[in-house]
Amino acid sequence: MTSNARTAVITGASSGIGTAYAEQLARRGSNLILVARRKDRLEALAAKLAKETSRKVEVHVADLAKPEDLRSVEKLLSDRDDIDLLVNNAGLGALAPAVQANADAVENLVLVNVVALTRLSLAAVRSFQKRNNGTLINIASVIALAPTPGGAAYSGSKAYVLNFSRSLELECAKTDVAVQTILPGPVHSEFFEQSGITKPMFPEHLYMTADQLVATSLRALDLKESVCFPTLADTGLWEEYDGARKKFAKAITTTGVPAPRYS
Ligand SMILES: NC(=O)c1ccc[n+]([C@@H]2O[C@H](COP(=O)([O-])OP(=O)(O)OC[C@H]3O[C@@H](n4cnc5c(N)ncnc54)[C@H](OP(=O)(O)O)[C@@H]3O)[C@@H](O)[C@H]2O)c1
Repeated sequence: MTSNARTAVITGASSGIGTAYAEQLARRGSNLILVARRKDRLEALAAKLAKETSRKVEVHVADLAKPEDLRSVEKLLSDRDDIDLLVNNAGLGALAPAVQANADAVENLVLVNVVALTRLSLAAVRSFQKRNNGTLINIASVIALAPTPGGAAYSGSKAYVLNFSRSLELECAKTDVAVQTILPGPVHSEFFEQSGITKPMFPEHLYMTADQLVATSLRALDLKESVCFPTLADTGLWEEYDGARKKFAKAITTTGVPAPRYS
């Protein structure tokens, strides 16, 4: 299918941050393809946004943990040249200490947070590079920077998202394809409930709303920030942190000789 209209694919659009992306992108003038498992929610959102914004809003029901459903979204990204934005937002926490964690739930987390995000990113970047135009937004978390007891797989998956997305960003640096990584702190959504957590995990003042998060992230995109920490006032701190990482990387890659303390 060929269209010149700008179309955004948003995964996990049935709730929380994904719904907020859908609402704000439609109001900014994008046509939308909404992806998630809960068809009723996607259809209600699509009808509401089509009515309020006159944009074209399609629904694509898919369980991203299932290979055939995942392939159907990849195919959309490969076949449709009207798609120029992918928001890889679908994700889950499966939060629990390792001794209590359900291994199937953790595998499901890896399939959605890592495998699906990876395959969809590859499909999107390939299409965007062919046309030398497009934006990929991957949702990580501040937890990407912090090993977290009780959230080992979640923290690991988001560290993957950060490194994977930044590597793609470097690959795309000389093109007109943009890759943005968002690292939110706590956001009010169904996220914690999905892990069976009913009491707030953090003090209320640490949370932002999904609307605030998305407005901040889209503003960061306008400012061409490829890595966005929505609450970070002093961006020099991130440069310092990333600079320390580069300095450390240099220190561990200057020789193949084992360090003296190991002899
Ligand atoms: N909330 C926070 O504090 C927070 C902080 C940092 C980062 N994040 C990240 O933000 C993203 C969105 O989370 P949220 O807070 O908006 O949580 P949420 O309200 O629970 O929304 C999660 C979304 O992911 C979709 N999803 C889950 N499993 C899926 C599957 N197998 N196939 C397709 N879609 C699936 C859900 O849709 P269906 O159930 O309808 O399929 C839902 O739309 C996640 O990547 C999360 O890790 C959240």
